Amino acid sequence: TQAEPMVLTSRSESGKVAILTLNRPKALNALSTPLFDQLNAELEKADADESVRAIVLTGGEKVFAAGADIKEMKDKQFAEAYKNNFLGTWAKLADIRKPIIGAVAGYALGGGCELAMMTDFIVCTPKAVFAQPEITLGIIPGGGGSQRLVTLIGKGRAMDMVLTNRKVSGVEAGQWGLASRVTEDGQSVVEEAVKVADGIAKFGVVAAQAGKEAVNAALELPLAQGLRLERRLFQALFATADQKEGMAAFAEKRKPTWTDN
Ligand code: HXC
Repeated sequence: TQAEPMVLTSRSESGKVAILTLNRPKALNALSTPLFDQLNAELEKADADESVRAIVLTGGEKVFAAGADIKEMKDKQFAEAYKNNFLGTWAKLADIRKPIIGAVAGYALGGGCELAMMTDFIVCTPKAVFAQPEITLGIIPGGGGSQRLVTLIGKGRAMDMVLTNRKVSGVEAGQWGLASRVTEDGQSVVEEAVKVADGIAKFGVVAAQAGKEAVNAALELPLAQGLRLERRLFQALFATADQKEGMAAFAEKRKPTWTDN
């Protein structure tokens, strides 16, 4: 019998949102190299597929991911990890150009929290649990946690999480800015994230991708360069049909029809 895929794929009702669901329920979606190989392949497929306008990444309604697969890691040696670039391919998600929403219920621990933070923004349940427990294993975050947490929640709270294994609830995550939206208790986080993604999917693809590129530049560039990149992208959008359509539609008091051109 063929092994069950570790990443399930489906579409929203509109067909415009690709939903990628981590699927190792017995291991609480522990993140292994084979899982990442599958996830990266599905992400690349979704990014290349013109019918996909936004992506939702989730572990379903019970658990996002309880971290990197400890059983896979425990006997690793430096030379092997270094030669094979362990973790090097895990950040593929951050290179995807289409908008990606993380839908988090239950545990988002260690690499799970880091994977969630690689998405463009997070929708979570109030009872979700975010933490960086690496210190309890004698290691530190290796998937961007020490860096992205600082950007999202500030140095003090990031230190608190990384040094004390503080568990942050979905409610707190919302207050801290780790999650952008927190669902009502009992509401489906996947449905909510898909609804938000479908909202993005209704806009033109060029503007959505440019918006994502500009916001991401803020994390990488000094302010003067970031502002210049933003202005240049803004100016460039005046060469698009969607800008003409969007503004004409406003002036004519009608809905725009985007052509992604
Ligand atoms: C491998 C894991 C796992 C993990 C859970 N499991 N987390 N296997 N790696 N990270 C497995 C358990 O071994 C168990 O398998 C099954 O999932 C169910 O877990 P239980 O522990 O029985 O469930 P529960 O008692 O409900 O406790 C849930 C839990 C606990 C609190 C989440 O599983 C836990 O503490 N997990 C480890 C969390 C963690 O330390 N994550 C950080 C990893 S380091 P069996 O076969 O026994 O049924 C990391 C580094 C990131 O992420 C590096 C960069 C990306």
